Amino acid sequence: MDMGNDELHRELLHSQAHIWNHVFNFINSMSLKCAIQLGIPEIINRHGRPMTLSELVAAIPINQSKSRCVYRLMRILIHSGFFVKQKVLSKDDDAEDEEEGYLLLPVARLLLKDEPLSVTPFLLAMLDPILTKPWHHVSEWFQNDDPTPFNTVHGRTLWEYGGHEPKLNHFFNEAMASDARLVTSVVLKDCKGAFEGLNSLVDVGGGTGTVAKAIADAFPHLNCTVFDLPHVVADLQGSKNLNYVAGDMFEAIPPADAVLLKWILHDWSDEESVKILKKCREAIPSKDKGGKVMIIDMTVETQKGDDESMETQLFFDMLMMVLVTGRERTEKEWKKLFLDAGFSDYKITPVLGLRSLIEVYP
Ligand SMILES: C[S@@+](CC[C@H](N)C(=O)[O-])C[C@H]1O[C@@H](n2cnc3c(N)ncnc32)[C@H](O)[C@@H]1O
Repeated sequence: MDMGNDELHRELLHSQAHIWNHVFNFINSMSLKCAIQLGIPEIINRHGRPMTLSELVAAIPINQSKSRCVYRLMRILIHSGFFVKQKVLSKDDDAEDEEEGYLLLPVARLLLKDEPLSVTPFLLAMLDPILTKPWHHVSEWFQNDDPTPFNTVHGRTLWEYGGHEPKLNHFFNEAMASDARLVTSVVLKDCKGAFEGLNSLVDVGGGTGTVAKAIADAFPHLNCTVFDLPHVVADLQGSKNLNYVAGDMFEAIPPADAVLLKWILHDWSDEESVKILKKCREAIPSKDKGGKVMIIDMTVETQKGDDESMETQLFFDMLMMVLVTGRERTEKEWKKLFLDAGFSDYKITPVLGLRSLIEVYP
């Protein structure tokens, strides 16, 4: 037997399987999207006990000729770790009639649409064709002089497109709001001290105001402003200590004790981020008077962390390259931005999973 050839064939087959997995990575996302669109997480959750395949098939809104395919969709979602199969005994308790039923795993609770911290709006937005189409044009973008693959496909920036296409504006704002609910619940619990002593705060690029509303409710003496592009904040009503201001952060930012930048700077290149930070600096008082910028963004870890977290960071960094002109940054890269924008000091509090609260002082 030729051992050399055997080894070579094993390696080739292993390489082929590795490549196949990468070729088909998108099937994980698309299967999840399909399950959400069919309402499968809700239906199984509402059932309250393991749901058999026939019960599931009868409950989901599908053409009956597709019934036989449901178990295949469920099989890959079980493999992905969202559902599990459990034995269910029939009513007469006869072991012969033992069947299996689907249950939601805890991680899938965040897929439930009516769960307050649901990530479903984020998932549906990121997998909308408007945002996935640019991925087919990345190599073309590497060879042209467009700022992003998004521009290559849609002929304008993501923000300009949002201003002209209400569908994108709506689903993007919903996606951001869903993330904001989860992040704010953690920030208000674990980083409450960061807001103490402030009399005013402006949430720059604050979207439809989910974060600012929660902060305004938690600190009734704090005057909060949501500052965003006109198409995002037009028609939104403030409250006693919350108001909406339309504008462009590259021109001027309304003055306040603190500026919040959640998921803003990772959308922009270093040059653009320094411009934004300089505008923030103009809007806040000195460090002795409590002035600061509060950034919520990723701090890329290059050393520690598990493989999944590393992959998530790399996914986000590529996302920022394809949709906008931004990037994810290491602590060293953040520090350089702060110094270039004229800030003197910063503090990183890593309490938000892959993201941190970064307080930056003039
Ligand atoms: C990634 S979203 C983050 C939204 C929100 N901070 C959050 O994390 O939920 C970026 C936000 O920046 C806003 N934005 C983009 N360009 C802007 C500009 N020039 N001036 C003000 N806001 C801008 C967008 O409209 C969008 O709401």
